[in-house]
Amino acid sequence: MDLDDLKRQAAEHAVQQVQPGMVLGLGTGSTAHYFVQALAARMKAEDFTVTGVPTSSQTASLATQLNIPLGTLGEPPKLDLAVDGADEIDPELNLIKGAGGALLQEKLVEICATRFIVIADESKKVEKLGTKFPVPVEVVRFGYEGTAARIESLGCRAVRRTVKGDPFVTDEQHYILDCQFSAIEHAEVLADKLKGVTGVVEHGLFTRMASEAVIAGASGIEV
Ligand code: A5P
Repeated sequence: MDLDDLKRQAAEHAVQQVQPGMVLGLGTGSTAHYFVQALAARMKAEDFTVTGVPTSSQTASLATQLNIPLGTLGEPPKLDLAVDGADEIDPELNLIKGAGGALLQEKLVEICATRFIVIADESKKVEKLGTKFPVPVEVVRFGYEGTAARIESLGCRAVRRTVKGDPFVTDEQHYILDCQFSAIEHAEVLADKLKGVTGVVEHGLFTRMASEAVIAGASGIEV
């Protein structure tokens, strides 16, 4: 079974947690894409609706194509459920997110959710964060070189993300620095340090945010 099948299985399992009328955070990336498709299929088959709060322009356009009504973070911002993928998941459900470049809006949405379910194939499980993926850090464009140097002083190599040779620019018009740490021993400590760097908008360490993970593997679904 290939990874896409596993991603789809995780998404189809998680979609069963959706209840009619929910305000629902919709993640970004290939696994979240399957979730949005599964949600649209369930809404049609069972004739109910939800309000989706997308975490990127990419997800907003997919949801719109699939006739999922969209809202934004309300006042006060409160979501019943958010469902999204991750790049790495440790045994405490700390995550690295942001390979798709949407980490800022993902964090803004998912932090407002009563329940946040991570969906992934089993390749995303790690013992320690930072072993397979760099930590994406969203930074303001002005003076990003200095910001990169300050981040590197925390013990990593920070590389500005590019697409086809051009700088990658986020939905909020920032740059992403992919920061390769070796295995991260204390994710929360590093998260605080990254937040303290002048020029950093947000980072892709999602600590103590996920309430559960639905992981699809060759031997079935693990929750
Ligand atoms: C998007 O910015 C990311 O946080 C994704 O949720 C993460 O990269 C997982 O993506 P895949 O589901 O495509 O692996």
